[in-house]
Amino acid sequence: MTLERPDDARLTAPHVARNRDAIRAVFLEHMPRSGQVLEIASGTGEHAIHLAAALPGVRWLPGDPDPHARRSIRAWIEFSGLSNLADPHATDAAAESWPVAEHAPFSAIVAINMVHIAPFEAAIGLMRGAGRWLGPDGRLYLYGPFRRAGRHTAPSNTEFDANLRARDPRWGVRDLEDDLLPLAAEVGLELHTVVNMPANNLSVIFRKA
Ligand SMILES: C[S@@+](CC[C@H](N)C(=O)[O-])C[C@H]1O[C@@H](n2cnc3c(N)ncnc32)[C@H](O)[C@@H]1O
Repeated sequence: MTLERPDDARLTAPHVARNRDAIRAVFLEHMPRSGQVLEIASGTGEHAIHLAAALPGVRWLPGDPDPHARRSIRAWIEFSGLSNLADPHATDAAAESWPVAEHAPFSAIVAINMVHIAPFEAAIGLMRGAGRWLGPDGRLYLYGPFRRAGRHTAPSNTEFDANLRARDPRWGVRDLEDDLLPLAAEVGLELHTVVNMPANNLSVIFRKA
């Protein structure tokens, strides 16, 4: 659910307030503190603001293919007054070319709550993009629910997966070992860290080998 404000373009997704501090803690421990960070599927833009504020040494490039999302991201950037965020890009992770790649190399590529709420082609495209445009030692950060080696990690994730697939049969909770690790290996990414997060989510960080 996303809430609109009557007076400006900023959108609010209630789950962001619940998970943003835990995600920020993982960034401060495991992610680069400098360079350019490309965020794919920024949604409302609230995570972008929260993370860019905590990482003043990075230039944060948020974006989303949805124009309503981009309006919200722009409005949050203006509201925040932060100077280390770029105007939002419109990258579709599944597309063959990413115009934002003209800014590569990136020290990190970030996708929060995207790979399960998009066709699997988006996950494939994200991995390929990370393989091509991350700099040496660059990190790919994924956040969300994941299956592990064929099994859901909690009953709530089993239910969420069924709910996602009912909404769109191309969506669904991805399997870290069976779906994502083979894609990562194909593009020269190795699994760096997996951090258990609240509400049966994971932070999954890949490193460019
Ligand atoms: C559940 S929202 C997550 C937004 C935000 N990251 C968050 O956690 O609040 C999923 C987002 O993925 C975006 N999205 C869907 N398919 C995509 C694709 N192929 N490439 C990039 N973004 C995509 C949608 O526009 C939407 O904003």
